Amino acid sequence: MADFTVTPYEVKGAVDYDKLIRQFGTTAIDRALLDRIQKHTGELHFMLRRGVFFSHRDFNWLLDEYEKKNPFYIYTGRGPSGKVHIGHLVPWMFCKWLQDKFDVHFMFQMSDDEKFFFKEGLDIKEATDLAYENVLDMLALGFDPKKTKVLIDTVSSGTMYKHAVRFAKKITASTVKASFGLKDSDNIGKYFYTSMQAVPAILESVWQKKNVPCLIPLGFDQDPHFRLARDVYPKLGYYKPAIIHSRFVPPLEGVSGKMSSSNKDNAIFTTDTPEEVARKVKKYAFSGGKDTIEEHRKLGGNPDIDVSFQYLAMAFEPDDRKLASIRDDYKSGKLLSGELKQILIEKINAFLKEHQRKREEARKILDSVLVKD
Ligand code: TYM
Repeated sequence: MADFTVTPYEVKGAVDYDKLIRQFGTTAIDRALLDRIQKHTGELHFMLRRGVFFSHRDFNWLLDEYEKKNPFYIYTGRGPSGKVHIGHLVPWMFCKWLQDKFDVHFMFQMSDDEKFFFKEGLDIKEATDLAYENVLDMLALGFDPKKTKVLIDTVSSGTMYKHAVRFAKKITASTVKASFGLKDSDNIGKYFYTSMQAVPAILESVWQKKNVPCLIPLGFDQDPHFRLARDVYPKLGYYKPAIIHSRFVPPLEGVSGKMSSSNKDNAIFTTDTPEEVARKVKKYAFSGGKDTIEEHRKLGGNPDIDVSFQYLAMAFEPDDRKLASIRDDYKSGKLLSGELKQILIEKINAFLKEHQRKREEARKILDSVLVKD
């Protein structure tokens, strides 16, 4: 029996990432691929160096095309069901780096329709309003507005729907049911939705009137949507999208499952105040330290299960030397859990101070990047 679950609609348990690669039939990112990426980018993003992005589909093909002067574009998205948390930022920060390094276009989908279909009690108007708010967090990361397009499903539907219908006609209800674990009693919007998530993976090809490779960075939970897209698109004459998968930023309570917006004491939101960040980290961040200071000094802590250390490693401490010294000091008992938490609190708060300013600034450019019908 599986001891963990990963679907677009549920992540729980201690995820075994090697097993995930085998189960989903993806490919581990190996040294040869990292070297190949580095040839183009000069340096590797810390999320690649540290295996935060650990798996892919067809990245080598994407680079073959790039080297043949057939450049790709990047596509990712967000289902606006609440506030944005720091876990969501992981794939988006990586997209920003890719845009800078490869100088490519970026497309971002806000699936307000999806969250309306899947979340009890969320009205469509509310989901659309959240889309306009959540997208600011993506824009705050500094994407080039001239090379960035935002789709909000209910706002950009004239552009999207005609492609979604062609996709939908190629998939049966039983395939969708098996891919997403749906039941007969689920509403039919849930069955159709994956056709909308597939559209941005070919939109650039439609616009440029030739096939353009697409790379989709995402948290692993979103893979089933694109496994379907990779089956269907060749039948419609398009390329299969390439994918690069990240691990999950864990919830504050421990290194299992994923941070999610539904539990506010288990997530750090981009709009949290410095006091809220400090309170949550101090009160809830699972510690790999020992019960008493004496014991900790003697035996040291375990960074691998320490949530604060994981947040530094996955998102907030890009400097490998600094991270290694924090790890060593924590393991040896020189650094106490409270001190490690304080390092994280300061890092997050310094990041959020800038992020919240840029997030407000982003309101000015939203209109110019939004695809309206
Ligand atoms: P959503 O809104 O659940 O999540 C947005 C993106 O953030 C990733 N993510 C995480 N990554 C690391 N750690 C976490 N704790 C964590 N929680 C969420 C997700 O994997 C995702 O990449 N259906 C999508 C929206 C969407 C989309 C896309 C996502 C539309 N088009 C294309 C990726 C690519 C959704 O509800 O994502």
